[in-house]
Amino acid sequence: MDYRNDFPLLKIGIIYFDNAATSLKPQVVIDAVVDFYTNHTANIHRGIHTLSEEATELYEDSKEKVASLINSKPEDLVYVKNATEGLNFSAYMINLKRGDKVVTSVMEHHSNLLPWYLMKSKGVEVDFVGIDEDGRLKMEELTEKARGAKVLAFSHASNVLGTINPVEKITKIAHENGALSVVDAAQSVPHLKVDIKKIDADFLAFSGHKMLAPSGSGALVVKEDLVKDCTPPLAGGGTIHDVTLTGVEWAKVPERFEGGTPNIEGSIGLGVAAEYLEKIGMDKVRVHELELLSHFFKQIKDLPLSTYGPEIKDRTGLVAFNLGKIHAHDVADFLNGRRIAVRSGKHCAHPLHQCLKIPASSRASFHIYNTTEEIDHLFSALSEALEVFS
Ligand SMILES: Cc1ncc(COP(=O)(O)O)c(C=O)c1O
Repeated sequence: MDYRNDFPLLKIGIIYFDNAATSLKPQVVIDAVVDFYTNHTANIHRGIHTLSEEATELYEDSKEKVASLINSKPEDLVYVKNATEGLNFSAYMINLKRGDKVVTSVMEHHSNLLPWYLMKSKGVEVDFVGIDEDGRLKMEELTEKARGAKVLAFSHASNVLGTINPVEKITKIAHENGALSVVDAAQSVPHLKVDIKKIDADFLAFSGHKMLAPSGSGALVVKEDLVKDCTPPLAGGGTIHDVTLTGVEWAKVPERFEGGTPNIEGSIGLGVAAEYLEKIGMDKVRVHELELLSHFFKQIKDLPLSTYGPEIKDRTGLVAFNLGKIHAHDVADFLNGRRIAVRSGKHCAHPLHQCLKIPASSRASFHIYNTTEEIDHLFSALSEALEVFS
C-alpha cells in the first residue's frame, strides 16, 4: 500500500508514529476544507440562499459517507467535536440517578472515565473491570459486575495496550442485564472495520482527527428511540422545532443534539476522510497495520524493551513501550532528535499506568502511510538511545 504521496506533511521528512494522538491529513481532506471556505462558506440549516443550501448539502452528504463507513444511518449520527464530547453527551443523555451503577474498566482513556466520575455527584456508583497480564479485560469479572448495572461503558480499543475489546459481546451482556452499552470507538473507527449494526451499542463515539479528518469533528452514534425524549446537553440555535416565551418544542434527532453552528468545514472533511478510508478498505488498513506490528515485534528481542498488551492479532496498530530504565520522555525526546515522532507520558490513562506499575510509557502508533522501513529507523534510533543513556 503506498498512500504516502497523499499526505503532504510526510514531504518534510519525518517519521510520524503519533497516530493514536492524531493522524495526518490527506490532500483530499485539506482540499475539501479549502473548497468549503473558498466556494461555499455559509451557515447550514438556516438560510434559503444558494450558498447556505450548498453548505447544508455538503454537511448532510458528509453524514452519508460516515454512516456508510460504519454501517450506520445518517440520521443516527450526532456530530460532535470529538469522542470526549460524545462520551460526555452520552453520560448526560442517559439521565443516571442516585444508586445507578456504571461499569467501566481500568484500561479506559480519561474521556471514558471522567464523564462517569462527574455522575458520582448525583450518587452514581462507578465500578471497574480489571485486566489480565496480557492486557485483556477480565470477562468473568465483567459479567459479574454487569448484574444490576445501568451502563456498561468500554473502549473498543485501548490507546495504550492496543487491546481490541469484544464490544459486541459486552453489548450483549449489557442488554441481557437491562443495561445500556456505551462504546468509546476513538481508537477503533480509524483502524478497524467497525459495524455499528453488529456491535449494537446504544451510544458509540469517535473523533475525526484520529481518522485522517480535521480536528473538531467527530460523531456520537445514538439509537433514536432511546434519546427521542431526551433534553439536549447543549441547547441553542438548531436544536429546536419551535420556541415560545413559555416553552420549547425540541427538534428531532440528531439536530436536537447539535446545538449552535457546528464545525461545518471539519464535518465536510470528516465525510471525505471516511470516503477515502472506505475506498482503501478498512480490511486493508487492518492488514497493513498487522504487518507493521509483526515487523515491530520481530525486532524487540534485540533490545531491553518492555511492551504492554496482548498478542498481535488482538491489538490495533500501536505499541506502548519502555526502553530499559530510560524515562519515556527522554526516549521520545531522543527520537524527536532523529525526526521520529512518538508520544510519551501516561496517554490520558493514569489508572492504567497505575495498574501496570509504570510511571509512563512511550508509544508508537501507526496508520496506512507508515512503513516497515520506518520501524527499522525507529529500532536503530532506540539502539542509539540505549548507548547514549547507559
Ligand atoms: C481510547 C480513547 N478514547 C477517547 C479519546 C479522546 O479523544 P479526543 O481527545 O479526540 O476527544 C482518546 C484520545 O486519545 C482515546 O485514545
